[in-house]
Amino acid sequence: MNSKMLAPTPPMGWNSWNTFSENINEDLIRSTADAMADQGLLAAGYQYLIIDDCWSLKQRDEHGKLVPDPEKFPHGMKSAADYVHGKGLKFGIYSCCGTLTCAACPGSFEHEFSDAEQFAQWGVDYLKYDNCYKPSTLADPMLYRRMGAALKNCGRDIVFAACQWGTEDVWRWIRSAGAHTYRSTGDIQDSWASIEKIARSQLDKQCFQGPDCFNDMDMLVVGMYGRGTNPFISIGGCTDEEYQTHFVLWAIMGSPLIIGCDIRSMSDRTKTLLTNQDIIAINQDPECRSCYQLSTYTNPEAFILVKHLQNGDFALGFFNFSDTASNVQLNFWDMGLPSMSGQGLRFYDCLTHQDLGIQREYFTTAVESHGCKLYRCGMAKI
Ligand code: GLA
Repeated sequence: MNSKMLAPTPPMGWNSWNTFSENINEDLIRSTADAMADQGLLAAGYQYLIIDDCWSLKQRDEHGKLVPDPEKFPHGMKSAADYVHGKGLKFGIYSCCGTLTCAACPGSFEHEFSDAEQFAQWGVDYLKYDNCYKPSTLADPMLYRRMGAALKNCGRDIVFAACQWGTEDVWRWIRSAGAHTYRSTGDIQDSWASIEKIARSQLDKQCFQGPDCFNDMDMLVVGMYGRGTNPFISIGGCTDEEYQTHFVLWAIMGSPLIIGCDIRSMSDRTKTLLTNQDIIAINQDPECRSCYQLSTYTNPEAFILVKHLQNGDFALGFFNFSDTASNVQLNFWDMGLPSMSGQGLRFYDCLTHQDLGIQREYFTTAVESHGCKLYRCGMAKI
């Protein structure tokens, strides 16, 4: 088995933690699965419905097995998985490489192989694997190698989503441990400061990821607007402009796109952003090239990200992290298109879905504070 790639492009889905933390149950999972299918998210590419921490009892059973909390999941995890699968979605669950999860439920340390088998029997397609309560005697590469080996041999294709927070230079060894994605930072918060911090911290680490092992910059806070039951995450919210910049950054930087808001009540603006096919196509481009960063002389707090796409186009993201609106200029020379190439760029705006025609040698655009522009550009002879 497993002759095919499980994550040829960054996984897309929804995770319960950002909004609901420990307040999860069967009804939430079923109604969220309904919403993913009915609201067009599945059609847009969001396949995985992932239950995060706090789904199990605090003790294993007498056979050492994990036990779903009967108050939250009276019909058990197989039933939840069946419902999710019935909607055409894939089912994700959560455990931890230590003795306990971060919320003090049982972790998988020394139970890796039997837990992986149990997950396979329930119909799990994706495992988020956290980093709390680790034994002091084993380093992280060993802990993640164990679950990597267990999942590869559990009898089912299960995406291995390591949640390791970027310590111990995770990007250097995590692919070799079998992970398909790896969390590279601490937990996101629903604020612009958190989004900016995470994005900046990963700009120089783009080159480490690629098909079947993506840098996971954490679940999206798009559309949370300060709501949610987790006091660490829900600290005020962002503007629509900031959520759009967040989504575009995660997309062009090749992060998995895992929604964290309550999609059962998302605003039209949130839905339009999360289902924007022009943005998603850049994230899901089959070549999965990392982007590179260019500075712009117009503003030290502004920059441009350039990503080569499979068909020869470029994705160009213009970002302004400063507190005032600013012009941002790209000189085509800086991306390998000197004027002697005889090539200009045809600009298509992925946020307004408009063609902007062919530009020569440079392109300047006004970008709001904490805002962005995103273009898909093809070369055009001039
Ligand atoms: C850690 C992870 C979060 C979430 C919680 C659950 O903090 O980084 O994404 O899974 O644990 O307890």
